[in-house]
Amino acid sequence: MKLESMNKQVTEEIQKVVEKYAGRREKLLQILEEINDVYGYLNEYVMKEVAKSLCIATSEVYGVATFYSFLNTTPKGKYIIRLCQTISCDLAGKKQIANALRNELGIEFGQTTSDGKFSLEFTNCIGMCNQGPAMLINDEVYYNLDPEKAVEIVKKYQ
Ligand code: FES
Repeated sequence: MKLESMNKQVTEEIQKVVEKYAGRREKLLQILEEINDVYGYLNEYVMKEVAKSLCIATSEVYGVATFYSFLNTTPKGKYIIRLCQTISCDLAGKKQIANALRNELGIEFGQTTSDGKFSLEFTNCIGMCNQGPAMLINDEVYYNLDPEKAVEIVKKYQ
């Protein structure tokens, strides 16, 4: 498919989502979430088109897209592992889990494996503070982790 017709298709998809929310600027986060779910990430073209559709600055869209860890501005792996880095999980052993995940996947946080299967990221509190360390793999929550348990869980996705 040519870039021009791909962009046209993306623009139409964006307009559909924006119309669903009646073009309301305050629904920017929900709009971006839906588009992120469709394409897996929000590229520059998408952010510009959303801004145009809502009559707001691209920088505002970019600000929201980069603030929330569940929105992606670069392509991600099929499975996004988000390890909680907030204080309770940090004290409960986040560092050891992070090292185990790095070793298992051979990538650093912020990177994606070369086969496109896993992305490794930190996130802020995911609401499991008294059962940390905790992580998400896509929408699935895992808690009371130790390094071995974390690696076993990741292996199930391989
Ligand atoms: S501090 Fe990690 S889940 Fe809340």
